[in-house]
Parts: sequence; C-alpha cells; structure tokens
Amino acid sequence: MTREVTVRAPGKLNLQLSVGPRRDDGYHPLATVFQAVDLYETVTATPRADDRFTLEMTMLPTVKAAPGAVPLDETNLAMRAARAVAARYGITDGVDLRVVKGVPVAGGMAGGSADAAATLLACAEAWNVGATRDELDELAAGLGSDVPFALHGHTAVGLGRGDELSPAMTHGEFHWVFATQGHGLSTPAVYAEFDRQVEAGERTAKDPHLSNAIMSALMAGDAHALGASLQNDLQGPALALAPHLKRTLDLAHEAEALGAMVSGSGPTVAALGRSRQHALAIAAHLSAVGESDAVFTVSGPAPGAVVLN
Ligand code: C5P
Repeated sequence: MTREVTVRAPGKLNLQLSVGPRRDDGYHPLATVFQAVDLYETVTATPRADDRFTLEMTMLPTVKAAPGAVPLDETNLAMRAARAVAARYGITDGVDLRVVKGVPVAGGMAGGSADAAATLLACAEAWNVGATRDELDELAAGLGSDVPFALHGHTAVGLGRGDELSPAMTHGEFHWVFATQGHGLSTPAVYAEFDRQVEAGERTAKDPHLSNAIMSALMAGDAHALGASLQNDLQGPALALAPHLKRTLDLAHEAEALGAMVSGSGPTVAALGRSRQHALAIAAHLSAVGESDAVFTVSGPAPGAVVLN
C-alpha cells in the first residue's frame, strides 16, 4: 500500500565547529555540536503509477532566495534522496515531491540537508519499504555530511565528516536570532578558504576536539556559559570571503547578545539571547541598523524529521 506522506525536518546551527586539516578525500575531520532549531523544511511525497520523479518547490516569506538558487533537476538533494530510497529498496514507481522551504537557502543552516532527510523519511513511508532507522541513517550519510543530523534533530555531537552522531544532553530551551544575507556562501568555497589560510600559515589546523565548556553549558541549560563558549573555525574563512558580516556580529554584541557567530559555513549570523524577549530585542536592533536580508528569532533544540500525517 502506498500513500501520500508529509514530513518536516529542522534547520540547524553549529554551537561548535572544530575543523581539522583537509583529508586525502577532500573532506575535513570535524568535532561539531549541532542544535536543531524550530525552522522547518516540509516535504510531501506522493507515489506515482508511472516511473517519473517530479519536484516542486515553494519558499516561505523568510526564505528570500534568488531565482535559480536551488536547482530543481536531478542534482537537487531531495530528488537524490528519493532516488536513493528507490534504488535501495528496488522501487520502480516514481514519486511527486513538493518541498516547502522554511530554512534560508545557502545560509549555513543545512536547509538542503533537511530537504534530503525529510524526503528520505517521506519516500520510505510513502512506498512503505519498511526501512529501519539505521538504514535511513546510512542513506542520509551518503547524501551529505549534515543529512543524518537533520533526521535526528535535538542536540548532537558530530564527528568524522559530521555524520557520526551521538546525542548531547541539554537542559531547557535556547533563544537564537538569525540574520541571513541575500548572497549565500558556498560551503566548499569556505572550506577552500580555510585550506588556503592553513597553507599560507595564517592559521593552524589541529586535530578537532570537542569543547567541554559547551557540553557543560548545554547540560546545565546555562545560556550565559553557552554564549561565552560558542566556537566556529569556519568563521575566519567566512569573514574573509564576506567581510561585511563583521558588522552584523558587532551589532549583535551591541545589543548584548550572550554570544554571536557565523553559523556553520555562513553567511547566516547567529546570536544567542538571554530569553525569548531578549532575542526579539536583538532582532529588532539588527533589523533597524543592519544590512541583513532577513532577521528572525528561533528556539532550539527542535525535534528531527517527523511524519505529519
Ligand atoms: O558532505 P557535503 O556534500 O554536505 O559537503 C559539501 C562540501 O563541504 C564538501 O564537498 C567539502 O568541500 C566540504 N566539507 C568538508 N568537510 C566536511 C564536510 C564538508 O570539507 N567535514
């Protein structure tokens, strides 16, 4: 029995992103702490009687993306996820995918990875393939480093390429402000700038390691301690490619954010508030003075991919 299935999966930020030297396969070893936030991608999978795969995408108002910013062909991550499920379980029928984007495009918040995670689960349910969680994890890791986390959500430590996950203990809710930029940064370009800085001797790349300060701040639910220990090794490279982001970071500090940093490979800037109210105040300051494209508040941790119908 097949049926139409809708799944939503969250965007994320990295509370810590410790990056080691480039490996021979081109990837970088990471020690990262992901937190899912309540900003979602929603994917509806409708099985077809023929063998066609189609993709339709709409953007929510917070997602301002240039036309053509997201490819709708076979290279699209949602499309690749649907193909991966079909190939793994020998499905010969096609599927219609409808994606509603709530996570900014190319913002370092893993919106594309959330599409892939939501699509994996939606197609597995729609085609009723009886996939186990481990099987979905394996398919997810094959699609991208951040896809397994979008399936799991909440707060997790990521090792390896970022795809070897273990849950992190957290207490309470954290209130974030996200400031997005009209022009995205490409993740490979930011990693390439990281490599350039290492080769030029402008920075060193040591074996990545987890920050105890972040883990204990999360466990204690201590926003002040968390804000003081946020860390992102890709911030320097992202700022080198997009120097204007420094102004947004300064504005967040002016508004007394507990911490502010570039999120993942950027260019989104994330700032931590003391409370939901304070996050709104920081957001108001960034909107009034800054050059950000969109500013909004979100809370984390949020759940991973869930079936909505
Ligand atoms: O795994 P994913 O396809 O999301 O990675 C996109 C790009 O980001 C890779 O091609 C690589 O350039 C870079 N990357 C990396 N090290 C990681 C994760 C991503 O260099 N751990």
